[in-house]
Amino acid sequence: MKIGIIGGTGDIGEGLAHRLSQNHEIYIGSRDKDKACETSECMIKSLSEMGIQADCKGVTNQEAVDMGDIIVISVNYRHLESTISSLKGFENKIIITPVNPIGKSDHFFYDPPEEGSAALAIKKMLPESAKIVAAFNNIAAHKWKKLDEVLDYSVAVCGDDLPAKKIVMELVEEVSELNAYDAGPLDSSPIIESITPLILNIAKYNNMKDVGIKFY
Ligand SMILES: NC(=O)c1ccc[n+]([C@@H]2O[C@H](COP(=O)([O-])OP(=O)(O)OC[C@H]3O[C@@H](n4cnc5c(N)ncnc54)[C@H](OP(=O)(O)O)[C@@H]3O)[C@@H](O)[C@H]2O)c1
Repeated sequence: MKIGIIGGTGDIGEGLAHRLSQNHEIYIGSRDKDKACETSECMIKSLSEMGIQADCKGVTNQEAVDMGDIIVISVNYRHLESTISSLKGFENKIIITPVNPIGKSDHFFYDPPEEGSAALAIKKMLPESAKIVAAFNNIAAHKWKKLDEVLDYSVAVCGDDLPAKKIVMELVEEVSELNAYDAGPLDSSPIIESITPLILNIAKYNNMKDVGIKFY
């Protein structure tokens, strides 16, 4: 599949590219094409040193949307609106959102927009035919790029378009030891997104690293 990553030079975007570029065509998007090319070339080089061939190209965010059948929106919640409003061509595409609107005081807290979640806000910003699926919200970026690290977590996936959700769940299952779980419609996205500040607080107050969730 062709996967475009908006904000692909960031922690999660680069991590996803590392894990998915062996089986899919990845387009790492950026506001700055040179930065995207550099990220892509670095990744191809480091994977090739491990004997892994990666299919990846650095592009602009708009080109990532144009090229991808699946688009990952991998920018911070506060840049969502300006980023999405500067792009076009989302019609009929599968849109994956790992975006978590999180606030921080002495602890982390869920800070959703009035729509109820980042995923529901994205739905409002995009054309009706875009198929929004929330996934990869609850795994810290840290281990994504280290291919020798096992990602042994559960991934809650929600969305209203069932075929799109199935495709995303299959994509999740391809990554390391991740297991995808259907968490219902996009209306479930506030629950999924709000797990992340919980995880961050548990990591902080218990001096733990790479906290994640696993369903049995
Ligand atoms: N990091 C994690 O552990 C983690 C885990 C789960 C979910 N998430 C979610 O995944 C999303 C991405 O997180 P991240 O940690 O990968 O983000 P990040 O590294 O902070 O940023 C991602 C990309 O956003 C772009 N960006 C920066 N400032 C921008 C601006 N003013 N306008 C538009 N784009 C801008 C940058 O790309 P260019 O400069 O190349 O354009 C950057 O590489 C977030 O919504 C987060 O909630 C993160």
